[in-house]
Amino acid sequence: MEISGKVMIITGASSGIGAATARVAAEAGARLVLAARRKDRLEALAEELGALAVTTDMRDPEQIHRLVEAAVDRYGGVDVLINNAGQGLHVPLEEIRVEDLASIMQLNVYGALLAMQAVIPVMRSRGGGSIVNVSSGTTRMPSPAGASAYAATKAALNTLSQAARAELADDGIAVSTIYPFVTVSEFHDTLRAGSGPRPRPGLVPDTAERVADVILDLVRTGDAEAVLVPEHLRGGSA
Ligand SMILES: NC(=O)c1ccc[n+]([C@@H]2O[C@H](COP(=O)([O-])OP(=O)(O)OC[C@H]3O[C@@H](n4cnc5c(N)ncnc54)[C@H](OP(=O)(O)O)[C@@H]3O)[C@@H](O)[C@H]2O)c1
Repeated sequence: MEISGKVMIITGASSGIGAATARVAAEAGARLVLAARRKDRLEALAEELGALAVTTDMRDPEQIHRLVEAAVDRYGGVDVLINNAGQGLHVPLEEIRVEDLASIMQLNVYGALLAMQAVIPVMRSRGGGSIVNVSSGTTRMPSPAGASAYAATKAALNTLSQAARAELADDGIAVSTIYPFVTVSEFHDTLRAGSGPRPRPGLVPDTAERVADVILDLVRTGDAEAVLVPEHLRGGSA
C-alpha cells in the first residue's frame, strides 16, 4: 500500500513506538488519527503533525468505537490501523495478580481485537486496508523470568492476528504482526506491576524510530510478520 494520503489510526501514539510511527507516517503523507490516554501529549503531537487527536482508553469498548467514528467523521474512512497501545507486567508467575493480568489482557488483547473489529467493515467498504498488530519479541524467544503474564497476552494477540490475516485476505485487508525486540521507550517505566527485566550485558536496544520504519514497511508490503529479535536469541515460546 502506498502510504501518502491514507487514513491511519495509531493507538498508543503519546510516546515510544507509537509516537515515532506517527512522525514517519506524517512524513510519508498519511492522514493521521492518534489515540492514547494522555491528552496533553497526544494533542501536542497532533498539532505538530497536523493530525487528529482522540483521547482514548483502549480498554473501553465504547471509546474504541468513538475513536473509529471520529476517524470516519473527519476523513471519510480508515485505511490503516496500527494496533500499538500496550502495557507490560513483570513479576514471577507465583506473584501474578489476576486483576493485573486482566488489565493488560483488556488492553493488549481485547483492545486490539475490538479495534480490528471496528475498522474491518470500514476497510471492507473501501475495498481493503492494512492492520499491523504490535506484539512482542518475547513470544519469539525463551521468555525471561517474570515475563510470562505479558508474554501470554502477546501470544493471544499473535493468534488473533494470524487468524485475522487468513480470514480477511479475501477482503483485501492485509493483517501483519510485528515482534519488536527491546526498544528504548517508556515501556519499562510504566509497567502495570513489577520491574525489569534487567538489561542483558552487551544488548543494544532498538530505537523507536527503527521499529516505526519496520511498521511502515509492513503497511507498504502487507507481509505477514517482521521479527526484530536478533537471530541468535530466537527460539522457544509461542
Ligand atoms: N519497548 C519495548 O521494549 C517493547 C518490546 C516489544 C514490544 N513492545 C510493544 O510496543 C508497543 C508500544 O510500546 P512502547 O515501547 O512504545 O511503550 P510506551 O512508550 O510505554 O508506549 C505505550 C503507549 O501505549 C499507550 N497506552 C497504555 N495504556 C493505554 C490504554 N489503556 N489506552 C490507550 N493507550 C494506552 C500509552 O499512552 P497513554 O499512557 O497516554 O495512554 C503509550 O502511548 C506495546 O504494545 C508494547 O507491548 C515494546
